[in-house]
Amino acid sequence: MRKVSIFGATGSIGQNTIDLIGRDPSAYDVVALTGGAKIEQLAKDARRLNADLAVTAHEDRLGDLRDALAGSGIEAAAGQQALTEAAARPADWVMSAIVGSAGLPPGLEALKQGATLALANKETLVCAGALVLETARKHDAKLLPVDSEHSAVFQALVGEDMQAVERIIITASGGAFRDWPLSDLASATVEQASSHPNWNMGQRITIDSASMFNKALELIETKEFFGVAPSQIEVLVHPESIVHSLVGFTDGAVMAHMGAPDMRHAIGYALNWPDRRDLPVDRLNLAKLGQLRFHDPDEARYPALRLARHVMERGGLSGAIFNAGKERALDHFIDRKIGFLEMADIVETALDRAEAESSLIDAPLTLDNVLQTDHLARKWVDETVAQRAG
Ligand SMILES: NC(=O)c1ccc[n+]([C@@H]2O[C@H](COP(=O)([O-])OP(=O)(O)OC[C@H]3O[C@@H](n4cnc5c(N)ncnc54)[C@H](OP(=O)(O)O)[C@@H]3O)[C@@H](O)[C@H]2O)c1
Repeated sequence: MRKVSIFGATGSIGQNTIDLIGRDPSAYDVVALTGGAKIEQLAKDARRLNADLAVTAHEDRLGDLRDALAGSGIEAAAGQQALTEAAARPADWVMSAIVGSAGLPPGLEALKQGATLALANKETLVCAGALVLETARKHDAKLLPVDSEHSAVFQALVGEDMQAVERIIITASGGAFRDWPLSDLASATVEQASSHPNWNMGQRITIDSASMFNKALELIETKEFFGVAPSQIEVLVHPESIVHSLVGFTDGAVMAHMGAPDMRHAIGYALNWPDRRDLPVDRLNLAKLGQLRFHDPDEARYPALRLARHVMERGGLSGAIFNAGKERALDHFIDRKIGFLEMADIVETALDRAEAESSLIDAPLTLDNVLQTDHLARKWVDETVAQRAG
């Protein structure tokens, strides 16, 4: 039986992972499931999958979790430290599906115990790419992509020589506002930004898709994961979300990965890798689809892409600033304190401020430095938002 843990089990990726594992329960020994505020969901899944341990990120919810697990024999724990300790429990395969930079410490810990880390949490590589790859190498742990674009690229590269890769083309649906006039974006609401045309995902990543901050994070993730130069990475808007990404080779060939927009494909590929097994996803019918559309992104509409290109060139801790600035600006947008377009402005201000203290960006890429930088960038964003309000 394979020992597996799922971090972020109560979220969109976590629930899709549980759906796949729950279809073949005798194949898996579930070590730990973690969640945040959805205690009842966490306890229900922990009971169903007979997990050893359930952890909530919220220390003040430990009592609720214990009550929900009463009589099951399943251990309960709470808090960020408990999450990291759960990741240190031996497992063969660990799903990293916490949202945000909170996913980094448990992800690193899982790599340290040599687990295969299925990485949905793109923030891990954006904040600390070199550190994460070095930790995986040192502990002989495998890192597998779960983002659909990176899974697509990973699959297109099977058996290929990286020397023959000319470019990687990451597709983007364009999000909720792809057909809106640019002049209307400033007044876009949280509700409007929270509805994705093709994918059913958590609220934060859905809003990040509308602003293309999600694609911006994925550009940085691509550079880190596949070790290519920023100039080799392109973004292509593809409204149907059928071609998940493409790899162009030096002989002119382009390999595209296609499939229905269902995250259980990328999750299942990482779960079954290096094999392929049957997955309960819709089969593609191109004749029924009729046409697939593609166009270049409009960088005036999506300033996050320009900021990501700066971060890829700058390196160091600029990814941690970019991500934390984005996470905090998103909090303020969700709290209706700032407008949709202000998010990119505010992240750029944080990057500029970090640049003025370049020793900060160029500090060694350690977990402590990433966490401190993350904290600082959030504080800067709060200050900028307070100044704008005042
Ligand atoms: N959804 C997708 O289709 C998709 C596709 C590609 C990549 N991703 C990436 O996968 C990750 C998860 O996305 P998602 O859409 O599944 O997010 P989600 O639905 O919002 O779920 C996030 C999970 O993280 C937990 N969580 C929230 N804050 C936390 C914290 N501070 N510490 C520990 N746990 C915390 C949540 O718990 P509660 O819900 O119980 O509060 C939940 O289990 C993100 O990095 C996202 O970019 C998602």
